[in-house]
Amino acid sequence: MFETISMIGLGYIGLPTAALFAARGTTVIGVDVSQSVVDTINAGKIHIVEPELDGIVHKAVTGGKLRATRTPEAADAFVIAVPTPFHEDRSPDLSYIRSAAEMIAPVLAAGNLVILESTSPVGATEQMAAWLAAARPDLSFPQDAGEAADVQVAHCPERVLPGQVVRELVENDRIIGGMTARASAMAVEMYKLVVKGDCVITNARTAEMCKLTENSSRDVQIAFANELSMICDSFDIDVWELISLANRHPRVNILQPGAGVGGHCIAVDPWFIVASAPETSDLIRTARERNDSKPGWVLQKGRDAVMSVLARTPDRSLADIKVACLGMAFKPDIDDLRESPALAIVEGFAKVGCQVLAVEPHVDSLPVSLAQTGVTLVPLEKALDEADVVCVLVRHSAFAGLRERLGAQTELVDVVGI
Ligand SMILES: NC(=O)c1ccc[n+]([C@@H]2O[C@H](COP(=O)([O-])OP(=O)(O)OC[C@H]3O[C@@H](n4cnc5c(N)ncnc54)[C@H](O)[C@@H]3O)[C@@H](O)[C@H]2O)c1
Repeated sequence: MFETISMIGLGYIGLPTAALFAARGTTVIGVDVSQSVVDTINAGKIHIVEPELDGIVHKAVTGGKLRATRTPEAADAFVIAVPTPFHEDRSPDLSYIRSAAEMIAPVLAAGNLVILESTSPVGATEQMAAWLAAARPDLSFPQDAGEAADVQVAHCPERVLPGQVVRELVENDRIIGGMTARASAMAVEMYKLVVKGDCVITNARTAEMCKLTENSSRDVQIAFANELSMICDSFDIDVWELISLANRHPRVNILQPGAGVGGHCIAVDPWFIVASAPETSDLIRTARERNDSKPGWVLQKGRDAVMSVLARTPDRSLADIKVACLGMAFKPDIDDLRESPALAIVEGFAKVGCQVLAVEPHVDSLPVSLAQTGVTLVPLEKALDEADVVCVLVRHSAFAGLRERLGAQTELVDVVGI
């Protein structure tokens, strides 16, 4: 039944998904608004960093199973994986979903399935179906015609981990949220072409809330650990020892504190719940605010350490003090600096007035935001040799065993428990 699938949005989620369907023999038409994305894929190459993906895309394109275009064409199913950011007031921005829906509407036909994969607030799938119906009054949609609709619509959120996408797309369980039972059955049939995990059926709203819940759950648990780290600091208790002791309780499993929460999922998705249920989401909002406040707290700890160095060595001025910031990525052992709390802390130190040495073993140059600030990117050894204050912001493997390499006078601000 699904001979041709059209993937709308060919980014971190859409391209691997398109490539895996193509690798299983389905004809895939990838649609993206970016000409350079389209050209790169049609050349058999990829524009994102994801292990194993380049070979799969190259084979699919040269084998004639995957091609990219900016103009949607007819297909049996349309899978939408476009961005879902939030506005400045933290309300969800559905404009990409709307524009994708309006792009595919002219080529929709009776018998089609439309799947929204983008992480979405509750009700977004129904909203998308309404936009499709407005653009195609000649076709019926589930909100009006239910099981008998010409075009069926479902929400199937994506929960893959960057760096493991090719494996997880196949092995993870999938939540299948049809607007009707028929939509769910069709979506299961489609995903089973690729997915080896369970395809678990629910409705569209529950599927939307499920994805938001997964990330909000992580955010709340991390916020608890971050709050503990601040409380323990004021009691002069080692929070990592405390957590490892508490986790010996058979039903306690506290996560590890850090510099905050970064990336574009956990730090974003909880706001979709807060925006649509402001009266009943105090805990989720407070957790988000707690995690967002952590970089400022870390920066203050760093300033305090600088002040102790100055108090110990009154002949030196602030401009003589060197602070080393170890790690700028948003989590350990990756090169991704987007929305990184560690990067925000380095940016904060750049305004303090001391010399800032940044260490990030996974990048070759400083990000644009640090270009004119006087911060220098240095190797770990140089930072350890020269710094008066060492702030460990990311638990990169490269920083293991670092405590023993610090000078006796070096002040340590350890945010990650090295
Ligand atoms: N990246 C992840 O790890 C991850 C994990 C789970 C869920 N998600 C969710 O998946 C969705 C997509 O995320 P991503 O990381 O793939 O984003 P991305 O920015 O990597 O890719 C999105 C692509 O969509 C294209 N695009 C934008 N508007 C379009 C339109 N109207 N028609 C066609 N193409 C359009 C862009 O040019 C871009 O290539 C988001 O909702 C995100 O929250 C992402």
